[in-house]
Amino acid sequence: MEKLWGGRFQEKSDKWIDDFGASISFDQQMAKEDLAGSLAHVAMLSKCGIIPASEAAEITAGLKILQEKLALGELEFSTVNEDIHLNIEKLLHEEIGPVAGKLHTARSRNDQVATDMHLYLKQAVAEIIQSLKHLRVVLVQKAELHVETIMPGYTHLQHAQPLSFAHHLLAYFGMFTRDLERLEESVKRIDISPLGSAALAGTTFPIDRAYSAELLGFSAVYENSLDGVSDRDFIIEFLSNSSILMMHLSRFCEELILWTSHEFQFVELTDAFSTGSSIMPQKKNPDMAELIRGKTGRVYGNLFGMLTVLKGLPLAYNKDLQEDKEGMFDTLETVQTSLDIFAGMIETMKINTEIMEESTQKDFSNATELADYLAKKSVPFREAHEIVGKLVLACTQKGIYLQDISLNHYKEINSLIEEDIYDVLSSKTAVKKRNSYGGTGFDQIRVALTNAKKTL
Ligand code: ARG
Repeated sequence: MEKLWGGRFQEKSDKWIDDFGASISFDQQMAKEDLAGSLAHVAMLSKCGIIPASEAAEITAGLKILQEKLALGELEFSTVNEDIHLNIEKLLHEEIGPVAGKLHTARSRNDQVATDMHLYLKQAVAEIIQSLKHLRVVLVQKAELHVETIMPGYTHLQHAQPLSFAHHLLAYFGMFTRDLERLEESVKRIDISPLGSAALAGTTFPIDRAYSAELLGFSAVYENSLDGVSDRDFIIEFLSNSSILMMHLSRFCEELILWTSHEFQFVELTDAFSTGSSIMPQKKNPDMAELIRGKTGRVYGNLFGMLTVLKGLPLAYNKDLQEDKEGMFDTLETVQTSLDIFAGMIETMKINTEIMEESTQKDFSNATELADYLAKKSVPFREAHEIVGKLVLACTQKGIYLQDISLNHYKEINSLIEEDIYDVLSSKTAVKKRNSYGGTGFDQIRVALTNAKKTL
């Protein structure tokens, strides 16, 4: 079949080489954006008197037919026509005849494809932002139910100090808030029109870039035509923001995987978010959490793939840039589904509050409380630390905990220790009283929840 660009070629192309160069198998996802871009472009050509209004009307009508056919799934694309842009031009030609050839006046596939990518990503990021907002709501709702749920806090994955479970959830709320801010902030760099940059240098036709940009709902146009067709920073930025977001999801998933294990039993996921084993009848595996953790790898891969494609690329367009699509589409799909699955998992998970709290009672995570208690009785903190350290050692040798030591024994250690030490040593008190700004104390968490809700 004849190529739309076949004029200067003498030999027929080979199918296997065409297949290698074609992007239609994946860029057909942008058919909607491509048609929208063409509609704006032809409207601009007409407004600027570059093509007659009557011909613009014919082209517009043809593009609208293609829009309808696309919606009905009736457009057929072929590898021979390489990519979505040439496929649509060919289909338009079939629809309206040779006048279709005027659509590509003052335009190149280079600014066309960049326009499509900007349009596509702008819409898709808006959807991700919605899902992220929903996840933040889910986290706050869950946190409200668990202000007074006590859990062990860890450093080095060793019991450190007890925490409110709400505090743990709100830590992730903080991460997802930053993710949201990053995505929202990035929109201004996605929301720019490259259309009218043409192949690389602009055009001699008296085009109006601001007009086509406005028709497409863009807030600005690229100031430099070379930059307009070569820039893929907006995609890299999206992949980078997605990598950070996935890393946050993955950290929480890792915790869920630990917490659902027999050793922890802090959390139970609903059946809907778990799977069984084909051989071991007892199994209930946290597959969804594992998959999100695993899929984080492919998103990082997409980021590194794109950074690598760009790093040695001279200006302006190079076919390498065709590699910008699959990683972006894959990341959009991955982030969107991961966010939605994750939110559902958090929303429906059951917290075993008693097991969580109990695990803070058979440990030494109240050792800091005892040291602080002594420090408040004016024992220098370093000395208090030493005393308590020795006591912990003695307890571990006897197989008891700090709260099992008698008051008489405590008084031998320091006569200022009173009966109130047992309340101080309880994990609930330890959490409740940690009301320094941003701490896990119940009052602080209620403040944090009020502040969080204001941002929802
Ligand atoms: N399919 C191409 C891509 O995705 C479209 C641009 C082609 N431009 C060109 N000069 N070959 O990058």
